[in-house]
Amino acid sequence: MKKWLIALGVFISVVIIVLLSPSPDFKPQAETNLIVKGERIYSEYCVDCHGENGKGEGAQIGTALNNQHFLSTFSNKDIFKIINEGKEQTMMPQFGFLEEDNINALVSFIRNWQTDTLELEAPSVIEGNASNGRRLYNLYCITCHGETGSGTLTKAAAIGNPITVENMTPQQMWISTAYGREETRMGPSLKGQDGVRQLDEQEISDVITYIRQDLVQLYDPKESKHSTHAIIED
Ligand code: HEC
Ligand code: HEC
Repeated sequence: MKKWLIALGVFISVVIIVLLSPSPDFKPQAETNLIVKGERIYSEYCVDCHGENGKGEGAQIGTALNNQHFLSTFSNKDIFKIINEGKEQTMMPQFGFLEEDNINALVSFIRNWQTDTLELEAPSVIEGNASNGRRLYNLYCITCHGETGSGTLTKAAAIGNPITVENMTPQQMWISTAYGREETRMGPSLKGQDGVRQLDEQEISDVITYIRQDLVQLYDPKESKHSTHAIIED
């Protein structure tokens, strides 16, 4: 066979392989720019608490933002709102002073950590028995989240915080409780999941009902004397 024919064959094969091979990392240039910009802002304002790769739970204990359970439960709009408004009476400051574009860049940067979309389902209506929920909370959650839901002793998030309760839907809370957050101390609670707590669906609804109805009224950031999660103001 003529050399040029072989060369042509090789060339055509290479073109076909390149055209057919999927490129999962391909992102439009505009989005890549946004992520790069977000990373810059993140290293200025967030890295001290949430850590270089968003793992959280470091010395300054922001929660884990690179977490697939977190990213599969919260939309970009939710994350925007948390950054924009912060969480009053916790260590999460508000960044409303940043321009909207900059907050959007932060959201893109955080979303860029998502490698997986987990199928996490919750009942469409979450109703339960608050007093049974209280009993379960005191048995299974209080050691980390505290008597008033402040996330004591740097152990956990402030789930009794009124802003958290207002901004998180009952479904998002149910999902976070049922499936936990991989690679953090927040293990799953749903029966059949690989966790220390084995609660059935109704029991989880009971706990969520208790948190949203009653714990939120008890919330006291001063509870966590050593905590970085709830702010201590004298
Ligand atoms: C061993 C400690 C521990 C126990 C016990 C525990 N949690 Fe958590 N929980 C955590 C930590 C740590 C986080 C934050 C994880 C992260 O970095 O994202 C968390 C996060 C959460 C969140 C998400 C809060 C947010 O703002 O996104 C919810 C909801 C929650 N826990 C509910 C519960 C409930 C309900 C129980 C009891 C059934 C419970 N947890 C038991 C440690 C714990
Ligand atoms: C002073 C420490 C601190 C700084 C700075 C900080 N955070 Fe936080 N952040 C926290 C803490 C602590 C929490 C958990 C609050 C709680 O207990 O509910 C949190 C929670 C969050 C959450 C909700 C996570 C969840 O699991 O529900 C998001 C999103 C977030 N921070 C993004 C950011 C971004 C983006 C920045 C930078 C613009 C930032 N944070 C800067 C401490 C901080």
